[in-house]
Amino acid sequence: MHLKILIFILSFSQTLSLSASLSQESLRPYRNEYFVETGAHYGAGLLVALQSGFRYLRSVEVDPQYFQAAQELLKRYRNVKLWYGSSSTLLWEMIQDIEKPITFFLDAHRFPPLDDGRKNCPLLEELEQIKRHPIKTHTILIDDISCCGQLSFDYLTKEDLIVKLLEINPNYQIFYIAGGWENEVPDNILVATPPNHRRRYTQRDSKFGNLAKSAAKISIRPKAGARGAPYL
Ligand SMILES: C[S@@+](CC[C@H](N)C(=O)[O-])C[C@H]1O[C@@H](n2cnc3c(N)ncnc32)[C@H](O)[C@@H]1O
Repeated sequence: MHLKILIFILSFSQTLSLSASLSQESLRPYRNEYFVETGAHYGAGLLVALQSGFRYLRSVEVDPQYFQAAQELLKRYRNVKLWYGSSSTLLWEMIQDIEKPITFFLDAHRFPPLDDGRKNCPLLEELEQIKRHPIKTHTILIDDISCCGQLSFDYLTKEDLIVKLLEINPNYQIFYIAGGWENEVPDNILVATPPNHRRRYTQRDSKFGNLAKSAAKISIRPKAGARGAPYL
């Protein structure tokens, strides 16, 4: 078989076999122009975000092998920028030039978690860097909320996270939606949105529809509908 065809088939099947921590249906209602993720892993979450219609995407990965894999997967997308290193210190550098509300997807943590005296989860440091940003109307999604109270999250509780989120914006509305590739994990993503989010989303929907179409060239399986569960 021709070498170029073989490489194409291999990279195409790799794309199909990747599974992200979230689905397009989970992400679409929370679109802004900018998507900033922590914990790129292989880049599957970024592919979902591209297909969901985000215009500019940024992510960071601490593991060199995953970083390389994500770079390879996403090299053709000039609107995707990747950082190599820890989000616990790099997030500010990643967002400081952005002058619009961002949708954050905070998904960096060590897996499997280790009890070796090093941090497993940089969430508090990430939220502190988001707090430095002058815009207070970002939308913040925190994945794997089921890990709260466990070693994976360094025993951080939901309440710890909510206290920190309300330091960023005391008016944040906080609720939970399903996570996972097929929305198979109920209430696994914490969502913090500014109070007028619903109205903004409705107004912007037609504009983002076109962007979503142009990003839809990527092969990703369709997902089941997301469910929402109000918290406050
Ligand atoms: C659950 S995976 C992320 C999955 C990805 N967001 C997706 O949807 O496909 C967690 C990733 O975070 C990375 N990670 C762990 N600690 C990190 C840190 N401090 N900074 C950046 N990445 C980190 C891990 O190496 C791993 O690749």
